[in-house]
Amino acid sequence: MTPLANVSTVAVDLNQLADATGTVAVFVDENGHLDQLARRVNRLTKGALERLADSDAFNDMGVGDVTRMRFPTGMAADAVVVAKLSRKCSIEDARKAGAGIAKNTGKGALLIAAGNLHRPEDVVEGVVLRNYSYQDQKSEPKPNTLDVTVMASKPDVVEPAIAPKLAVAEGVFFTRDLVTMPANVLTTTSFAEHLIALQDLGVEVEVFDEDQLEEMGMRTLLSVGHGSASPSKVVVMQWNGGAEEAPFALVGKGVVFDTGGISLKPAGGMEDMTMDMGGAGVVAGVMKALALRKAKTNVVGLVGLVENMPSDRATRPGDVVKSMKGDTVEIINTDAEGRLVLADVLWYAQERFNPSGVINLATLTGAIIIGLGHEMAGVFSNDDTLSKDFIKAATAEGEGAWRMPLAPAYDKQINSAIADMKNVGGRAAGSITAGQFLQRFIKDGMPWAHLDIAGVASVKAETAFAPKGATGWGVRALNRYIADTYEG
Ligand code: BES
Ligand code: MN
Ligand code: ZN
Repeated sequence: MTPLANVSTVAVDLNQLADATGTVAVFVDENGHLDQLARRVNRLTKGALERLADSDAFNDMGVGDVTRMRFPTGMAADAVVVAKLSRKCSIEDARKAGAGIAKNTGKGALLIAAGNLHRPEDVVEGVVLRNYSYQDQKSEPKPNTLDVTVMASKPDVVEPAIAPKLAVAEGVFFTRDLVTMPANVLTTTSFAEHLIALQDLGVEVEVFDEDQLEEMGMRTLLSVGHGSASPSKVVVMQWNGGAEEAPFALVGKGVVFDTGGISLKPAGGMEDMTMDMGGAGVVAGVMKALALRKAKTNVVGLVGLVENMPSDRATRPGDVVKSMKGDTVEIINTDAEGRLVLADVLWYAQERFNPSGVINLATLTGAIIIGLGHEMAGVFSNDDTLSKDFIKAATAEGEGAWRMPLAPAYDKQINSAIADMKNVGGRAAGSITAGQFLQRFIKDGMPWAHLDIAGVASVKAETAFAPKGATGWGVRALNRYIADTYEG
């Protein structure tokens, strides 16, 4: 698994600036004003920072942008990275500066000369999140180890503020690693093993095998995995950090690889379907974050782990299967498999836990990418408060989320002539009919949101806080939603 940067905090010591190796990050505000630590770096470099602050180049920088000066005179460091950030910066700008600092820092040491900057923990969050590089499949891994030292006026205040940020970043890295792992490495069985390891952090973990799932009646889920040699599994993770109250439930689609099944996908780009367990990956990341920061509430995470393969045992188009709820589904297209997995896990989550609310996550439809691209996940919900609060949390974390409609009028698209429903509703409103399908497995009055993360779970270009590839989208948003709603 990919390790986080090591982060430690020290008190301000101006004399350390000359001898620090690696990269030294300093802050200059929008007006070109140097703080005490930047002034010392300026003196060591014979006025280089002042020249920068007076330059057009500095003027052209936006708030939170950074620039790098390499091999500065008078310092042992290989580079000084200057961020344009004022002492009373916003959370957003502090995180942005952190990501910029990380992008301009090599391996080795990074000294963040924070002084009395207001939000060093948010700068650190940006640094740590951006410093990600998956190396596990390289024959000669180059671990991207970074030792970060935060030099702050009040280290005893800063250190405890950084700790929960690192907990959440660990969760994000867990999600990114799971999403990045190829499908021959992350099988249903090895995925379950990664989740069992969360027991060490105090998460209660149960794994249900195919015989047990059969007994429980999860036939729509099992129908998806029928064609694969890898056994289908459902994993239940409970974090009980609260009192006796009902838990909040997170449910994730964990298709470790989606070939489409008998409704086989075209070859071009099929390799991307290794990320089709992204929903389950986010649930795993959130559970890890909650456990590491010892969240004071109860959350249960459930994931359906299956592989969608064609074979002589695979489900055929036209087959009818019965869900755990009892409703029957005519499977028109075996590539619309995520909803079949979620239907049973959603039902089970409600039956067993009677949760205070449910959010499910899934790389569910290509149509959501047509609608929202790679900037925002689609939010489908039966509850205005839940969706408003979630979107607020996502926005605060810089993770895009946009409410999409649900309405009974779309139901006719998924009515079946021979069964209770069919699993596809045609090209029109493909993401909404998928949402309508899921809603049929939500009990009346249960606050619920479905997050379609097909466009945001893994992307082809770098984003604000991640290199290209798996983003970990949603871990921070859900962590904040849970903290603000249930721990406030
Ligand atoms: N896993 C895919 C959706 C997907 C597409 C995720 C692109 C990430 C990137 C899902 O199982 C699927 O195949 N959906 C079909 C549904 C259709 C058959 C109704 C789709 O979107 O084409
Ligand atoms: Mn599919
Ligand atoms: Zn899929």
